Amino acid sequence: MTTVIKNGTIVTADLSYEADVLIEGGKIAAIGPGLSGDEVLDATGCYVMPGGIDPHTHLEMPFMGTYSSDDFESGTRAALAGGTTMVVDFALPSPGQGLLDALKMWDNKSTRAHCDYSFHMAITWWDRQVFDEMETVVKERGITTFKHFMAYKGSLMVNDDEMFASFRRCAELGAIPLVHAENGDVVAELSAKLLSEGNTGPEAHAYSRPPQVEGEATNRAIMIADMAGVPLYVVHVSCEESHEAIRRARMQGKRVWGEPLIQHLTLDESEYFNADWDHAARRVMSPPFRNRQHQDSLWAGLASGSLSCVATDHCAFSTDQKRYGIGDFTKIPNGTGGLEDRLPMLWTHGVGTGRITPNEFVAVTSTNIAKILNLYPRKGAVLVGSDADLVVWDPEKTKTISAKGQQSAIDYNVFEGKQVRGLPRYTLSRGRVALADGEVTPQEGWGEFVKRPPNGAVNKALSSWKALTAPRAIERAGIPASGV
Ligand code: URP
Ligand code: ZN
Ligand code: ZN
Ligand code: ZN
Repeated sequence: MTTVIKNGTIVTADLSYEADVLIEGGKIAAIGPGLSGDEVLDATGCYVMPGGIDPHTHLEMPFMGTYSSDDFESGTRAALAGGTTMVVDFALPSPGQGLLDALKMWDNKSTRAHCDYSFHMAITWWDRQVFDEMETVVKERGITTFKHFMAYKGSLMVNDDEMFASFRRCAELGAIPLVHAENGDVVAELSAKLLSEGNTGPEAHAYSRPPQVEGEATNRAIMIADMAGVPLYVVHVSCEESHEAIRRARMQGKRVWGEPLIQHLTLDESEYFNADWDHAARRVMSPPFRNRQHQDSLWAGLASGSLSCVATDHCAFSTDQKRYGIGDFTKIPNGTGGLEDRLPMLWTHGVGTGRITPNEFVAVTSTNIAKILNLYPRKGAVLVGSDADLVVWDPEKTKTISAKGQQSAIDYNVFEGKQVRGLPRYTLSRGRVALADGEVTPQEGWGEFVKRPPNGAVNKALSSWKALTAPRAIERAGIPASGV
């Protein structure tokens, strides 16, 4: 059985051209004019692009006394409905729990996935067992990215000594560290002060995490990564202070990538001043939404290439869960949804406004992260031999985003009422049509875990450079190196 996508314009990260796409055995078998197949999908007026890859989701994540409400079933269904064909979720050991033990839990949760997926591993504590198990995680499980929370003091946060040790281990293993960059000590102090002054509502969440806590932590992580000789990926970059640190590092030749979220690009801090407590609390996430100046900085970063990937950090909590924090904003579960809306919102507010081109859209939603995660060209590409994870994108199709009819399990949508122009006509997961004209045809368990090899090109280049410039003892005539 073969499928052919006909009459569309292929849009990749570097090229747009008219051609048909033939799919066989879940892979792209041919690209060119006049192809035929058993099943025909009409792409007249549409762009045929690599399916979105969301590198940052938290499905059924245990967090702040509860679990995020979208699991791998509803979360990946939402992904496909919005043109995303792969998610990378965070396996999160509780402090003291082994990495391999935590992975078993994530293996169990993910059996229901409708689309392909991978994991990042979080480093939430540090000792010999973690150090040892990192090798198995990389070499046997194909998980080559390790997340470090510089915030959430008292639960997930790691200190600088732990982070430096883990970053060095990543360098040895050819892996890449990720950071949630916020100064957790300062956030804890500011939160306590705000509460003691009677600032208990969701707006205080934003006051407790000013851009400086993010800028400081981003700079610190960049310097620590440089000293450890390892590349660095900064998740959910929300502000100019953090972007500036990343931009500067990249200009200095450091291997650093930044990931803004679709929420920070399109929603601002005024959401927290809404008179409706539920409205404000539903938008509580870390880092918080920022003002227009920060949003402009993030858009400029996508256009100029100083920021690399747009994610969602999809971590959806229902209104009832958010209400755990009535009377104390520090107890509002942190997180927002976005899996179904990332591509349409980015297209509408990015391509539709001329801030980014269609090719840049593909780069920041799929190809760049596929390259960073060493998944390219299996994912993130429209090439013969690539997985047929594709989206047939109709740039004229419109809708008004609403919780009514969404795939996500929660009872609201942070983008409620937003008009989008640009939606998938078809989404294909390894050749299987999972969405057609707004209707999802889910298949639980279809999604496969994707292993990722360590030691991508950037790791190799950086380790060569670090070896070449490593400290060396100077030989001096008459002075023995070891002393006498
Ligand atoms: O508020 C957020 N971002 N929740 C999810 C966990 C995290 O920090 O990424
Ligand atoms: Zn985070
Ligand atoms: Zn509202
Ligand atoms: Zn996250």
